Amino acid sequence: MGAGSGSGPRTAFFQRREERMTVNPSKEDKFSFGLWTVGWQGRDPFGDATRPALDPVEAVHRLAELGAYGITFHDDDLIPFGSDDAARDKQIARFTEALAETGMVVPMVTTNLFTHPVFKDGAFTSNDRDVRRYALRKVMRNLDLAARLGAETYVFWGGREGAESDTAKDIRAALDRYREGLDLLAQYVIDRGYGLRFAIEPKPNEPRGDILLPTVGHALAFISELAHPEMVGVNPEVGHEQMAGLNYAAGIAQALWQGKLFHLDLNGQRGIKFDQDLVFGHGDLLNAFSLVDLLEHGADGGPAYTGPRHFDYKPARTEDINGVWASAAANMRTYLLLKERAAAFRADPEVQAALDAARVGQLAVPTLGDGETYADLLADRSAYEDFDPDAAGARGLGAVHLNQLAVEHLLGAR
Ligand code: GCO
Ligand code: MN
Ligand code: MN
Repeated sequence: MGAGSGSGPRTAFFQRREERMTVNPSKEDKFSFGLWTVGWQGRDPFGDATRPALDPVEAVHRLAELGAYGITFHDDDLIPFGSDDAARDKQIARFTEALAETGMVVPMVTTNLFTHPVFKDGAFTSNDRDVRRYALRKVMRNLDLAARLGAETYVFWGGREGAESDTAKDIRAALDRYREGLDLLAQYVIDRGYGLRFAIEPKPNEPRGDILLPTVGHALAFISELAHPEMVGVNPEVGHEQMAGLNYAAGIAQALWQGKLFHLDLNGQRGIKFDQDLVFGHGDLLNAFSLVDLLEHGADGGPAYTGPRHFDYKPARTEDINGVWASAAANMRTYLLLKERAAAFRADPEVQAALDAARVGQLAVPTLGDGETYADLLADRSAYEDFDPDAAGARGLGAVHLNQLAVEHLLGAR
């Protein structure tokens, strides 16, 4: 039978596809973008800018039209480094006006502690004490602005906090200074009554050869050493975990488990190489599917995370400004398509049967019964003496079948 001929299942398949094409981002989806994402001019270590500068006011308007609800920024994205107070105030006023015109919000703000040469050996962990003091002042100034704009999260990405050689950085002293800095800033936020929480963004390397707090796990462990651990969570980025060969969705699950998923950076990455910052889903699509499934259905079928769906990607250097907006839209569209595919996956009776067969739900049942002690366990002959490990070891899980069902939903074959 030729394509398009006849009716029946094939037509139904294409009808379903038509319906899926209509996903439209809206403010309820809570999509946000960094000013530095769509504003990236394509300058890389080997080549000059391929696009002109983008006015932040234009970015606010265009992203609002595309269906985003929020915009985020580093201090220097909005107010060029070295601006005098008058220029700074003017730029903030223009930006605030654009927000009011569009109803866009600023859910997160962060600091540029990496571009200027002063930060070449780090900010909070520079060997140079004067640089550390300057960095803290730069953050405090921007915390005031973040609070003024109603941000809820302040991100700390320590791209320059690291080294290229083991001998030039005392890691334990650097962690002391990192903690000192975050403790001081947390105290500042508390004393000023700002409604801000901190989110540490891990990254294994780039721009430094090795960066402190390289993975979600390192960051979570570090947070437990802080004076105000309740104020500090993580902002994991897809590509950064994948640069370390890690499973992003699994890292997000642990951050959720620890109550520490304060924010997240969605993008794409193809394996262990330089930080690609591709469009969300343009890397490991199956893991992106699992991630969206977790975020949207990970708490008794409902959303496990209700914060911003923040995209931290770079429109490829090959693109012109039309390509920039197409790629921004692609992030949101991919997220919504994955959300729809994850819902279909969850609703499929065959998936539910496969989940049961794999005993996925059984993992939520505590290993000991209510009130049961290790003495009871020792007395339970069915747990050991009469248990047949060979029979249990021979039972298949059906995990591959389950995974294939996910792939088929992802491909639109179910
Ligand atoms: C990266 C990082 C940065 C940070 C941002 C926030 O791609 O290395 O994602 O983009 O997220 O600078 O401080
Ligand atoms: Mn990145
Ligand atoms: Mn990021």
